[in-house]
Amino acid sequence: MTAPLIELRQITFGFPDRNVLQNLDFTLHPRERVALVGPNGAGKTTLLHLLVGLHRPSAGEILIFGQARRVESDFVRVRARVGLMFQDSDDQLFCPTVLEDVAFGPLNLGRSPAEAQADAEQTLAALGLEGFAERITYRLSAGEKRLVALATVLAMRPDVLLLDEPTTGLDEPSEARLLAHLEGLDQAMVIVSHDRGVLERLATRVVGLKQGRTMDLPRLCPRGV
Ligand SMILES: Nc1ncnc2c1ncn2[C@@H]1O[C@H](COP(=O)(O)OP(=O)(O)O)[C@@H](O)[C@H]1O
Ligand SMILES: [Mg+2]
Repeated sequence: MTAPLIELRQITFGFPDRNVLQNLDFTLHPRERVALVGPNGAGKTTLLHLLVGLHRPSAGEILIFGQARRVESDFVRVRARVGLMFQDSDDQLFCPTVLEDVAFGPLNLGRSPAEAQADAEQTLAALGLEGFAERITYRLSAGEKRLVALATVLAMRPDVLLLDEPTTGLDEPSEARLLAHLEGLDQAMVIVSHDRGVLERLATRVVGLKQGRTMDLPRLCPRGV
């Protein structure tokens, strides 16, 4: 098998008042779409945050793109290639307009303003958000914010996508469009979700998180098979 994109070895992490992850192992290979499932508070969001350096483990090793990642400068490089869609869209969106928010990532990666705007417009169109460019971000509905948050991540064209409950708050047509779009992408993904559509249509593997550790779960049969 090809070298993993992400490898967590024996990761332990806790907040001051609680242990969350305990000797946890996890691997993501190219083109895999792993659904991460587990009860509320199991540590799914915490795991994604560890992967982009928003928390540091107290023990264990994080390897991303084959290199050990330990300090902030390591994770600055990781964040240029690994895109995280936050569970709460308000953590993702901070510019006045949708276009500014979606162009922010590409600009930050050093693309020219014209390129960044083109990337943003193209991504918005791919998600069915034509006409949203000049909308005021904080006035969007929750579902609209969700799609714009995804656009901010996709516009950077990351090598790996980390999606924290991407379909929460979406109506059926938006969810169907989102799943179809994600299905067409080549990038490897970790998708925190209990959504049947995600589990049955999108995931190539399902990993459970419970009592601080991961376990492989059987993949559900696709609908109609
Ligand atoms: N900043 C924080 N400070 C203290 N505890 C936290 C913090 N963030 C999350 N937690 C706790 O850590 C545990 C795991 O949280 P989280 O990763 O958000 O769970 P999940 O995404 O699986 O629902 C929960 O018990 C949560 O209350
Ligand atoms: Mg969560």
